[in-house]
Amino acid sequence: MKPVSAQDERPDSASGTPSTANAVLTPDDPEAGGPLRRMCWIFPDRESTRTGAMWKHYFWDLYAEVAKECGMSWTRHSPDAVTVDGTVRGRPRVYVDDELVTPEDTLFVTALYSLPYQSMDVFNQYALYAVLEQAGFYLPFPPQVSLIGNDKLATLLHLDGSPVPPIPSIRIGTGRDVGKHLYEVALANMTYPAIVKPAGWCGGGGINLARSAEDIRGLASLAQGGDTTLVVQPYLGDGTVDHRVYVVDGKPYGLLKRTPEAGSPVANASRGGTMEFAPIPDELAEATAYFAERLPIPFFCVDFLFDGERYWFSELEPDGVIAPDFDDPHRSIQRDITRARFAAYRDAHAKWLANTTTTAGAVMSGAERETR
Ligand SMILES: Nc1ncnc2c1ncn2[C@@H]1O[C@H](COP(=O)(O)OP(=O)(O)O)[C@@H](O)[C@H]1O
Ligand SMILES: [Mg+2]
Repeated sequence: MKPVSAQDERPDSASGTPSTANAVLTPDDPEAGGPLRRMCWIFPDRESTRTGAMWKHYFWDLYAEVAKECGMSWTRHSPDAVTVDGTVRGRPRVYVDDELVTPEDTLFVTALYSLPYQSMDVFNQYALYAVLEQAGFYLPFPPQVSLIGNDKLATLLHLDGSPVPPIPSIRIGTGRDVGKHLYEVALANMTYPAIVKPAGWCGGGGINLARSAEDIRGLASLAQGGDTTLVVQPYLGDGTVDHRVYVVDGKPYGLLKRTPEAGSPVANASRGGTMEFAPIPDELAEATAYFAERLPIPFFCVDFLFDGERYWFSELEPDGVIAPDFDDPHRSIQRDITRARFAAYRDAHAKWLANTTTTAGAVMSGAERETR
């Protein structure tokens, strides 16, 4: 398969195609297979005109198209688009823009974004996650998972039992005392060259090589300019290949390989890397069981780095991009993984709803709401 070449990244194998393939279902169609009708992604509305257009072509339009085929809608909303009327006890009414939505027909994707131009939204995102959770909505990324996925060290610590070893990592803050180099107390075990990168970004932004602790001093003082917390890791070497496993319903579903351009340490397309879908290596497929047990959610991505000899566990991307296979005009693989993701959401939501309506207490059913 020819590598795809447009820019990748986060917002956001291909087998096991769900039965709704290619049929366009309307939200009222009983064939649609569950009560879920709307998937709303809470996403900071901060892209530039150029970047916004690129992502639209790259995945947003396709996601919406596939959702429609499954009888659902897929939309993006900044945190301020949600209004909550809590004036009637036990019966909060939640609106997205001016449309009333309910836990029965809507889920919210609450994956945190914290790139520099989105950082002013972080508090509003988390505050809204808490509100939506309390209002009884199904969140396929519980806010705690969002926290863990957002910080590279939190990820590695949460998943420290991984059968594929985590990359040894050090996390350092870059506040007002960065010039005192107090963090160097933790650098004793570091080897060089080292990779220095932001703890909470994505898309290959801000990844650098440091030849020594002196280089880290320079990078840390630069990172101070954006209040950016850093992670330091041994560099796994030139030609290190990133392997993203798409996990759907706890099973390895597909694999995206990203290879850096010659002369670059970074495999992301934003730095010239190439991408291709490939078979899932047995070692990574087997490791999925561990990740699925620690993360019982319908969809997530785990990224591993292959240094030429062995794999290392690198990252969790709760909503890792489902990249386009641009060499195929139908983008069959991107479509297939996206369809599997949405079907998993619909099934998980249906199960969750069945549990909440039979379990007294935690969340009220629609009928209970109506009678209060
Ligand atoms: N320790 C490392 N050794 C070698 N390459 C690395 C290392 N850390 C990151 N990289 C390269 O940089 C890319 C981006 O780093 P990553 O940790 O995945 O951050 P992001 O969240 O920006 O994707 C990786 O896909 C890999 O190509
Ligand atoms: Mg990555």
